[in-house]
Amino acid sequence: MRIAPWLDVLAAHAGRLVDLPLPELITSDAGRAERLGLRVGPIYASFARQRIDRAAWDALLGLATAADFPGALRALFDGAEVNRSEGRSALHTALRSDLGRGPRPAEAHRMAREVQAQCESLAAGLSAGPVSDVVNVGIGGSDLGPRFVAEALREHAGGRFRVHFLSNVDGHAAQQLLRQLDPGRTAVVLVSKTFTTQETLLNGALLRDWLGQDRRLYAVSAFPQRAAAFGVPVEHVLPMWDWVGGRYSLWSAVGFAARLALGHEPWRRLLDGAAQMDAHVISSPPASNLAAWHALTAVWNRNALGLDTHAVLPYDDRLARLPAYLQQLVMESLGKSVRHDGSPVEAATVPVLWGAPGTDSQHSFFQALHQGTDSVPADFIGVVRPDHAYAESHRALLANLLAQSEAFANGADHADPQRRYPGSRPNTLFLLDALTPEALGALLAMYEHSVYLQSVVWGINAFDQWGVELGKRIANELLPAIASPEHVTTTADPVTRVLLGELHARR
Ligand code: F6P
Repeated sequence: MRIAPWLDVLAAHAGRLVDLPLPELITSDAGRAERLGLRVGPIYASFARQRIDRAAWDALLGLATAADFPGALRALFDGAEVNRSEGRSALHTALRSDLGRGPRPAEAHRMAREVQAQCESLAAGLSAGPVSDVVNVGIGGSDLGPRFVAEALREHAGGRFRVHFLSNVDGHAAQQLLRQLDPGRTAVVLVSKTFTTQETLLNGALLRDWLGQDRRLYAVSAFPQRAAAFGVPVEHVLPMWDWVGGRYSLWSAVGFAARLALGHEPWRRLLDGAAQMDAHVISSPPASNLAAWHALTAVWNRNALGLDTHAVLPYDDRLARLPAYLQQLVMESLGKSVRHDGSPVEAATVPVLWGAPGTDSQHSFFQALHQGTDSVPADFIGVVRPDHAYAESHRALLANLLAQSEAFANGADHADPQRRYPGSRPNTLFLLDALTPEALGALLAMYEHSVYLQSVVWGINAFDQWGVELGKRIANELLPAIASPEHVTTTADPVTRVLLGELHARR
C-alpha cells in the first residue's frame, strides 16, 4: 500500500470541510448520529463527532479497500510475517481466539492453551501455600498490561493474592514496595520476553536476594534457559514466544500476575471478550468494522487534518492506567518514519498519545483542549452501569462525559472572545455497557487491531521497536563512568562528560 496518492484525495476533502463547523456538519445531515454509531457486543462507539462528511467517509472506506484491510487482517491472523524487520509473525490473536487458518496459528493456539493450563496449575500451587503477596517484576509490555488489567477489573477480582508491580529501575520504587512486604509470604514473578532487560534483571536480583531463597521465584520468558540460569526453578518458568510482541503479550503468561489477582474466571472472560472482538474484526468489512473505523478516523485526523496529538479520556477511575497502556501500544507500534522496505514513510505517522481520567482532567488540562490554539482529537470512554451504589455520583460522571464530548464538538459563541469556545474538536465516544472483563478485553483488542490497520495504511512495521535500542546501548556504555570518575575521560560526548563531572563532584 502506498498512501502518497491518497494524501491528495484526503487533503481535498479536508479542504472542503475545514471551514465547516462540526455542529453544522452534524445538524445538516439527518441520521448522522445513528449512521456513525456502531455496536459490537458490550461496546457502543459514536464517530458522529469526527470532522468528516459522507464524501470524506466514502473516501476513507476507499482507502481501506486500497489498503486491503480484510487481506491484511487475514495475513495477521494466519501468521504471515507481518513483522518483516525481524522475520516474525504477530500471532497475539492466537492467544485468545482460534480464527487463523493453516498450521501456524493452530499450533500457536494449541501452545497458548497449554500455557494457560500451566498458569492455572502454578496458580493452584501458590494458592495452596502461605503466599499472600505477588510481585510482578517487568517493564514495558511485561508490566503495563497486567498492571492495568489488575487495577481496572478489581471489582471483579476473586483471586486471593495482593499483586504488586515493580518496573522502574529507580531503587526508591523497590524500597517503597519492600517496606510493605514480608519475604516469608511473597512470591516474585519475573516477566521478560528477552530476559536481558536491565531494569528487570536488576530488580529481579534485588528481590531474589531479599526473598533469601529461589523456591518462590517464577518467570515468564521466551528464553526459559536464561530464567533458569538466573535461579528460577525450571518448573516455575512459563514460556512465551517470539511471535508475540511485548506490547501485545497481556493475553499470554505475561498476564500471570493479573490472573493471580483476578482469579481464573474473570481472566478467562477477559480473553473471551478479546476473542469476540477478533471475530468481529476478521469477519466484518471496513464499512461495519469497529477497528477499521477507529483506524480510518485516526489516519484522517493525522494526515488530512494534520493533528499531531491524541488524547484518551476515560470517564472511569478504574481505567486510569489506560492512557499509559495505550501509549506503549500506539507509540511503540506506530512511532516509525520508514516503511517496511526502509524507504521514508510518505505521510505523518504516530500522534503523541496522552490522557487522564475525567472528571479530574477537566480541572487540569481541559482548558487547553477547549480554547488552546491546537485541536486535539480525543477518545472518550464511559461506562453505563457502575459497580457501586452511588447513583448520584454516577449520574454526575455520565453528565460530564456527555457534556465534554458535546462541548468539544459544538463549542459556543460569545461576544467576548475570552469566553468563546471554537468547538469543532473531533472526538469519538465509547460507551461500555459495564466494565466487565469481556468489555475490557474487547476494547483492548479493538485498539490492537486499529493500530495494526493504521500501520498497514502507512506501510510501516507495527511490531518492531528498534528506536529503543540506542538509549539502552549508551546507558550500558556509561555505566563504568557513572561508577568511577576515572572512566569519565573515556566518554566521547563533551556534554555528557561535563554532566558526569558534575555528578561526581556532588556525590
Ligand atoms: O524497551 C522496549 C521493550 O523492548 C518493549 O518493547 C518491551 O515490552 C519491554 O522493553 C520489556 O522487554 P522484555 O519483556 O524483554 O523485558
